Amino acid sequence: MYVDAVLVPAETDGIEPGEFGAVAVIDVLRATTTIVTALENGARGVVPVGSPDDARAWRAAGPDVVLGGERGARALAGFDLGNSPLEYGPERVAGKLVVMTTTNGTAAFERARSVAGGAAVIAACLRNAQAAAQRLRQLAGAQGGGALIVCAGTDGRFSAEDAYAAAVVLEAMAREGPLELGDGAQAALRMAGTVASPRAALRATRHGRKLVQLGFETDVDFCAKVSVSDTVPTLVSGVLVREGSGPARGE
Ligand code: MLT
Repeated sequence: MYVDAVLVPAETDGIEPGEFGAVAVIDVLRATTTIVTALENGARGVVPVGSPDDARAWRAAGPDVVLGGERGARALAGFDLGNSPLEYGPERVAGKLVVMTTTNGTAAFERARSVAGGAAVIAACLRNAQAAAQRLRQLAGAQGGGALIVCAGTDGRFSAEDAYAAAVVLEAMAREGPLELGDGAQAALRMAGTVASPRAALRATRHGRKLVQLGFETDVDFCAKVSVSDTVPTLVSGVLVREGSGPARGE
């Protein structure tokens, strides 16, 4: 199977819609880790939206809407939750529809949707790496196409933590069968070969250091756990749902 990784968000501009059979978004610190955690803890869906105002508009949708996200890694005024995966426990999200806006992660879903051209879009991180890899293979294989990983990056720039997480997903995909690697996928895999541990990999990055400075050290360690979750968020009509779960909006 052909697989490639977009390491800088703007690279998606060079991809034709529908060129790949399935697309995975990675923002390991912290958006996709938080989305996986929210669904694992019983949220009935996560809606990625572009701006804080887009999120606030969802308040009118009903009492079981929870607003989450960040700007500058900090919680937003009037929101229920920030972007720490540790805030998304069952007591806060079970049965709820989480509407989320983050600086880079939720924007990456927009990019992924535009290049997917109808192909499936999933969320991946270190915590669900093995399950996401299997699902990406299945989805792309069912379309008779290749798989693309879109790294969210930070403020439009390369993020080593996302490239590293992409490499971990690629390694898991490679364990399932042969891969033909695009240049971005090769670069990610080479970089990952130099890393001592997932924890060290995340802590050494610009965003990892910023999160530690802001007091989110436990988040970084939580995000560094590999293949401990089998939850694979899948985008259905603009809502990320856990595989096999029912309609996200109760419609
Ligand atoms: C983002 O989407 O930019 C990140 O998830 C930021 C964060 O760590 O909160």
